[in-house]
Amino acid sequence: MIVGVPRETVAQEKRVALVPDAAARLIKAGHEVLIGVGAGDKAGFPDAAYIAAGARIAPADEVFGSADVILKLNRPDISEARKQREGAALICFMQPAAAPDVIRVLAERRISSFAMELVPRITRAQGMDALSSQSTVAGYKAVLMAADATGRFFPMLMTAAGTIPPARVLVLGAGVAGLQAIATARRLGAVVEAFDTRPAVKEQVQSLGAKFVEIDVVHNEQAEDAGGYAKELADETIQRERALIHERATQADVVITTALVPGRRAPVLISADTVKAMKPGAAIVDLAGESGGNCELSAPGEKIMLHGVTIMAPLNLPSELPFHASQLYARNIVSLLEHLAPKGVWGPALDDEITRAVCVTHEGEIMHGPTRALVGAHA
Ligand code: NAI
Repeated sequence: MIVGVPRETVAQEKRVALVPDAAARLIKAGHEVLIGVGAGDKAGFPDAAYIAAGARIAPADEVFGSADVILKLNRPDISEARKQREGAALICFMQPAAAPDVIRVLAERRISSFAMELVPRITRAQGMDALSSQSTVAGYKAVLMAADATGRFFPMLMTAAGTIPPARVLVLGAGVAGLQAIATARRLGAVVEAFDTRPAVKEQVQSLGAKFVEIDVVHNEQAEDAGGYAKELADETIQRERALIHERATQADVVITTALVPGRRAPVLISADTVKAMKPGAAIVDLAGESGGNCELSAPGEKIMLHGVTIMAPLNLPSELPFHASQLYARNIVSLLEHLAPKGVWGPALDDEITRAVCVTHEGEIMHGPTRALVGAHA
């Protein structure tokens, strides 16, 4: 197979879908790898490193026009989708609902497309789980941003000039990003508290050396669905939660928020009043900015200061640690590619659970139910 990796064209994107080591692995397996000019530059992987790995560097038109499979991070735009060879395959983050026009073009051009964010969270698919790998990066980077913004030390320091108490960090949402934020803040020496509506994470939080803050959910409400994801909670529970968070946040030097409910606006957990009551000089990093934000005052993509508190709601944070984010993503995407092309021969088996879950378009049809409903049954 010819595997093509074009340079990402989305503004501010620094990652690349395939790093030289992963390219070498594909080449060793008998594939040809075409890399777009400068594709890895911003992530710290120059063209020369890909050439040394055995890949060939080519202009974007050639990559799209000749690859059997395109590996990308972000969904192609319309012009890229039109450049891709008819009948070829595409693997990337697709967010199909956000771009039905691109999905239509992919179906019309009989491109088989597969969405990284649709990889099911089952043990067998863990190596392909890019949501997790990129959330790990975001959780880590969020703590560094907060540490940089506070003007305080994280660790306790005993110096000749006096003793400095450790920073207090509050983490809201203890999924993949939240757990990594807890671990990172602990490594820097902070005292960490965390809160999540899913009681199942309590032990994980504690095993990282953080305190788990508990509330009673109303009427034994189930906070978790069958897939292990959070469910939207009753208003009364959210009110209780906000009151508790208000109290904990006023003690904190840093608040990292990561609370998400799939398919919904992110819950607003930090009100404007809570921000007003926080310590001057404190910092909030809101990782839910892309879903509307966990803090009422967050401005997605911005860093602002209100009531003496720095509030950051970065978008695409994994791109800010592009070297390792790309390395992890490359492992995920190669693992999915190997699943779709067993023994190196392209042949997605649509009766397989993983393949069925990730397939968006195939042989001119829109295979992903919600997208089909959006775009129309046939292209
Ligand atoms: P996510 O990014 O969808 O949500 C982040 C966190 O926010 C979750 O822990 C959620 O419970 C929490 N949250 C939602 N509403 C909240 C509220 N009102 N207040 C406080 N916290 C709230 O979650 P992520 O990180 O994608 O993981 C979701 C689940 O999937 C977890 O149980 C995780 O362990 C599981 N998982 C399983 C994998 C596998 O088996 N292969 C791989 C990765 C995750």
